Order: sequence, then C-alpha cells, then structure tokens
Amino acid sequence: MRKGMTFTRFIIEEQRRIPESTGEFTLLLSAIVTACKEISDDVNRGQLINVLGSAETENVQGETQKKLDIISNDIMLRALEWSGHLAGMASEEMEEVYPIPSKYPTGKYLLVFDPLDGSSNTEVNVSIGTIFSILRCPENISAPREEHFLQPGVRQVCAGYVLYGPATNLVLTTGQGVNGFTLDQDIGEFILTHPKLKIPESTSEFAINMSNQRHWEPAVKRYIDEVVAGSDGPRGRDFNTRWVASMVAEVHRILMRGGIFMYPRDNRENVKEGRLRLLYEANPMSFIIEQAGGASTTGRERVMGVCPDKLHQRIPVMLGAKEEIGRIDRYHTEMDKEIESESPFRQEAN
Ligand code: AHG
Ligand code: MN
Ligand code: MN
Repeated sequence: MRKGMTFTRFIIEEQRRIPESTGEFTLLLSAIVTACKEISDDVNRGQLINVLGSAETENVQGETQKKLDIISNDIMLRALEWSGHLAGMASEEMEEVYPIPSKYPTGKYLLVFDPLDGSSNTEVNVSIGTIFSILRCPENISAPREEHFLQPGVRQVCAGYVLYGPATNLVLTTGQGVNGFTLDQDIGEFILTHPKLKIPESTSEFAINMSNQRHWEPAVKRYIDEVVAGSDGPRGRDFNTRWVASMVAEVHRILMRGGIFMYPRDNRENVKEGRLRLLYEANPMSFIIEQAGGASTTGRERVMGVCPDKLHQRIPVMLGAKEEIGRIDRYHTEMDKEIESESPFRQEAN
C-alpha cells in the first residue's frame, strides 16, 4: 500500500464537506489535471517525440511560439471543451476567447490558463509549468465574451499550477489554504505530499531579472541596491538571488522554502505596464501566494484587487514573503510622494 492520499480522494472529500455541491467543480478539476498529465508526458519525452523547438509562429503578445506552447494549448482545449463544466476558455496562446463548440453542453465556469509558462526553457530541460484560474461565468450568460472574463483576482474560485520539473507537482487553492501534490508516474495519480503549504513572512532570497536594472523605477532600484549591498548596507544581512525565467518554478521555490519574486514594470516600451499577464499568470499565482500566507503587489496596489480591462492585460507583480513585499510597497509610496512633491504644479500651488 502506498502512502498518501490521492488527488481524486482529496477533491471528493473536499466536495463532501459542501453538502449542496453538485460535483461539477470536482469533475472540472479532474479534467484539468488529466490534461496536465498529458502535457507532462509530452514535456518529459521532448526531443524523443520531436516536440521541442520553435513553431515559427507568433502569439497575440508578439512572442514566438514554441511547438510545446501550441501542443499544450491544444491539449487543454481538447480535454476540456467536451466536459460540460465550462462556458468558455481563454489562454495566453489565443487572441480571442474560446467558445465551447455547439455540439457540447456548457457549464457555469470560465477557465483561463497559461498552457506552458517558462517555455523559453523547453530546450534546456529546466522546469516549466501550466498555470490556471477558474472563474464563475456571470449568471444567464451561455456564450461569454471577453468582458465576462474581466474579473478581478479576488473573484477567482480556484487557482493552480502544474510544475514539470524533476518531479511533476500540482499546487492548488480554492480559498482554503494551499495543497501540493506529486505525480506518482507508476500509477498515474497525484499524491498529496505538501498539505497546507505556508511561506515564511521573512526571507533572504529574491528573484528578479537583473539585466533589466537600468530600466526599473527608483523604488525597485532602491530595494535591489539595498539587498545587493547585503551586510555592508542598510539591511545589515546578506541576501541570495535566483532567476529561473519560469514564474511557475520561482513560485514553487517560494512555497517550498520562502523568498520573493519580482517582475516590476520598467521603462521599456513593451514592459511599461509590466511583463506578466494579469488573468492567467499574476492572478492565479497571487491567489496561491496569499493563501499560503504571503502577499502580492503591483507596488501600488494588491494584484488581486485590479479590475482587468483587457484579456491579455499585463501587470507589474511582486510576490512572496510578507515583510519584504510590505517594504517594496512602502518604497513605491515614498517614491510617488517624492515625485509628486517635485512636480512644478505642486510647487506653484505652494
Ligand atoms: P511564458 O513562457 O508563458 O511567456 O512566460 C515567461 C514569463 C515568466 O514565467 C518568467 O518569469 C518571465 O517570463 C521571464 O522573463 P525574462 O525572459 O524577461 O526574464
Ligand atoms: Mn507565462
Ligand atoms: Mn506561456
């Protein structure tokens, strides 16, 4: 007998705790997880089945797609469109909302996902993953349009990711804490290996792409200058840095041993509003991090409080250990006050 509860048992027991539950949500989760097992298998076989490399096409963000970006997106669509639990889907790899084909029944949920996060890492065998967020479809809408997906992160019903690394991990929240599972390849089931994940409030580890330093706002420059100065600077202790270039892997590291992750906005034309996407990267990861006791900010507000105005909206995101995120927020507030006090309009008024 193997140790640990299977994911199937876990979600059925969760469902039993809600007597009025119809089981629709449980079946939807199960279908998502099956799709991710299929993606995991393709990622794992990689070059052996000729799925690595560029597809030579561009997505709506103007990014060159990898073959695996397209394959993962198709796996998600095909595994979920027939299920009867969804009213529509949206993904990083599709410009428009994906309607459920008319031959299938529809359900009350909306699914948004990043089919393969960190796909620049596919050729180098570094961890990548699938990120998803489940929203409720507004009442009486059976063919949802873009506007119906534009809900703030606080309205998420569920958020999760599957990390394809040395092991395949599923991490999930429905607003009652965060649980982590590991895929047992022999039996094809996820096993609960990390119940009730919590992250420490303080940390000495940060993740940011340092090559963008010259483009950052002064608040981010100040924060990073101070942590890099370590025990010789105002923080009085040394910090450590990591950058995987897969947000999903960075968030997983933070859940396992603490830390913070930052992708701030900067003054490059395509990063003015941030680099990561609100609906299928920043929101689900923020939900997970907050549920594990961490915080997530744009520098100026809580990520999950932002009302999206477009499907592929980008946003600055800094998340992880509460103490450091609080400090980053404070540095932004101080910077904004200073900028305001230097404004010629303000000086005239005085
Ligand atoms: P995706 O592969 O879905 O486009 O996302 C990659 C994202 C994120 O996971 C990662 O943190 C970031 O892009 C890396 O960006 P840089 O290449 O600018 O470091
Ligand atoms: Mn991504
Ligand atoms: Mn992606």
